[in-house]
Amino acid sequence: MFTSQGPTLRELAVQALSSTEHGYDLLAPKFDHTPFRTPGRFLTATADALRPLGPFDAGLDVCCGTGAGVGTLLPLCRDRVTGVDFSAGMLAAAARAVPAPRPHGPAVDWVRADARALPFTAAFDLAVSFGAFGHFLPAERPALFGGVHRALRPGGLFVFPIGAPQPFRSPWYWALLGFDGVMRVRNALWRPPFVMYYRTFALGGVREDLTGAGFDVRTQPLEEFGRRPDGSPHWRLVVARKV
Ligand SMILES: C[S@@+](CC[C@H](N)C(=O)[O-])C[C@H]1O[C@@H](n2cnc3c(N)ncnc32)[C@H](O)[C@@H]1O
Repeated sequence: MFTSQGPTLRELAVQALSSTEHGYDLLAPKFDHTPFRTPGRFLTATADALRPLGPFDAGLDVCCGTGAGVGTLLPLCRDRVTGVDFSAGMLAAAARAVPAPRPHGPAVDWVRADARALPFTAAFDLAVSFGAFGHFLPAERPALFGGVHRALRPGGLFVFPIGAPQPFRSPWYWALLGFDGVMRVRNALWRPPFVMYYRTFALGGVREDLTGAGFDVRTQPLEEFGRRPDGSPHWRLVVARKV
């Protein structure tokens, strides 16, 4: 899963014993060599689904990390693309990795802020987020979704991929259950907490919280990821419109 350019086991252990924010500061220089960066096929599938819903003027990538979502938004937005993250290290790596804006392309800016208290009001017509929702406890979702809602203009879209839960018989089900269990023990015994859970972001509760924040929520299957034996998609795109 990790290339030779990725973090060593020792580095990962030190990061996991830090706060979420500082852990990412430490990981930032090697983040793009880890499987935690959202793989290109998720970004491409999201861009393909967004294209017919555009064009967009201003786009926001929430928890942008090293800029995977910002790079995806650049061809979809006319004026401006903003990446927001609370890790200064990740933002610095993003600024190095994402190419400078082209003469007639959208401007790019990076904002350091906690996604639970986003500092934007009616500034964007599109927001996306990739690979970061495991860092928010369910009780924090109203603040997160409320902030994205406030950041959007009326009719603006908040869009992100969401995976179906692993079936009980899959080895992944047990691996993720085990990972979350270890994190719970770690966070009960060690300060500061590193919040990262794989099984806390299920579609039912997410839909309820998005609706509560003022979104009209639809989903569409991402067919390129196939379907489960019961016919349901492995991955969907959540398309939440600010009403
Ligand atoms: C797994 S990385 C994903 C980065 C990028 N979106 C991607 O798909 O490659 C999660 C990112 O979320 C950021 N993050 C976690 N909690 C956050 C919070 N409360 N506010 C802002 N950023 C946060 C981390 O700093 C990190 O950059």
